[in-house]
Amino acid sequence: MPRIYIETYGCQMNVSDSELMLGVLVRDGYVRTDDPAQADVVLVNTCAVRDHAEQKVLSRIGELKRLKRPDGVLGVVGCMAQRLGPRLLERVPQVGLVVGPDGYRGLPELIARARAGERSAEVVFKRWEHYEDIPPVREAAASAFVTVQRGCDYRCTFCIVPMTRGPERSRKLEDVVREVTDLGRAGTTEVTLLGQTVNSYDDGTHDFADLLRAVGSIPGLRRLRFTSPYPTDFTERAILAMAETPAVCEHVHLPVQSGSSRVLKRMLRRYDRDRYLEVVAALRSAVPGIALTSDIIVGFPGETEDDFQETLSLVELVGFDDAYTFKYSPREATPATRLKDPVPDAVAGERLEGLVAAVRGIARRRNVALVGSTHEVLVEGWAKRGDLLQGRTRTNKVALIPGPDTWIGGYHDVRFTGTTGSTFTAVPLGRVQGRGRGRGEELAVVG
Ligand code: 5AD
Repeated sequence: MPRIYIETYGCQMNVSDSELMLGVLVRDGYVRTDDPAQADVVLVNTCAVRDHAEQKVLSRIGELKRLKRPDGVLGVVGCMAQRLGPRLLERVPQVGLVVGPDGYRGLPELIARARAGERSAEVVFKRWEHYEDIPPVREAAASAFVTVQRGCDYRCTFCIVPMTRGPERSRKLEDVVREVTDLGRAGTTEVTLLGQTVNSYDDGTHDFADLLRAVGSIPGLRRLRFTSPYPTDFTERAILAMAETPAVCEHVHLPVQSGSSRVLKRMLRRYDRDRYLEVVAALRSAVPGIALTSDIIVGFPGETEDDFQETLSLVELVGFDDAYTFKYSPREATPATRLKDPVPDAVAGERLEGLVAAVRGIARRRNVALVGSTHEVLVEGWAKRGDLLQGRTRTNKVALIPGPDTWIGGYHDVRFTGTTGSTFTAVPLGRVQGRGRGRGEELAVVG
């Protein structure tokens, strides 16, 4: 049986798409390998959202092409494949196929062609493509990603995604429910629903609120997450569904991009600073204790020092639990590349440093205040270093906990004992330790 190796870069949607590609290929008789040198087919699932992401992938392709067996096939798939198309074939002669996000069902045929010496680029958008008939091949785990919406109809001026993932389309609610029900039967208890603007979900009959309620009531599902929502696509119905569906976790990743209304307008975001703050207030009042994280860009064309100060003040005002911060990266053919007043790289770099410090500072303050509090964590596995387990709270905080590996995949109550500023150390509750405490009493250990 031919062996397939897939390496994934970029967002969770890419992780989910790689599971889908494995589904396509396993159905066609492939087996999976974790060693690219052993593979008959190597696929690199790519990201195009920033130039840095593309450069990283290009250098990795440089390594993989040297590993490629004479009869092997090297393919580039995903957003960078869609963006560059045939240009990638020209650039890297060892690449046999280039396939965008709507072309994955054609992989077996394109691989066969590449084997026969015919290199091809498949980059046509298919509005109807949901891959509904293809069961993704996932690692068995407590947690799973489920794509509910593909593509994007928004036109944020900085963003390449509408050009790499095509038009927005939602899967049918019944299909999503069936998939999550099957996952539940196989032991998955946490699901993250994925879409570029996931809360604009609309299958023609059902909206995002319906989706949350339907998925949230599936037996065995204990935690329901979603990413990424668009700030102003939260309807009152959706916020109510979040509040009333116990499985929905108390965390929302809510990309703001900038704290300046002037910049938001140039980004073609559909809200201003005040409107974003209203959404934050609505979420906080409906879901007490909700953690908020964000994406923020600095150095967007025309961003002044005052605009940047507005971003800093918004970070303080909201008090994000964490944020991903980016220097604006011009993407070919996106509207922002035609905007005047580019921000010099050195200035953008300084602003990024200032923003990172502000985000870290506020996150640290929030996290220090949580030391001593108790949380339920889903234990995901061993922490990278040391002999501690890594778990995640419903609010998406990471905690390192002493415990046996039989806890992996299960839920445990812990008390936070310390924080690095971003992650926590914790001890399990309800265990007898030392001095013969009664059953159910918590540890008195503070790390
Ligand atoms: N430059 C920098 N950051 C970008 N993002 C998207 N496009 C760009 C770009 N051209 C960021 C946004 C988005 C996240 C996934 O990546 O913050 O929310």
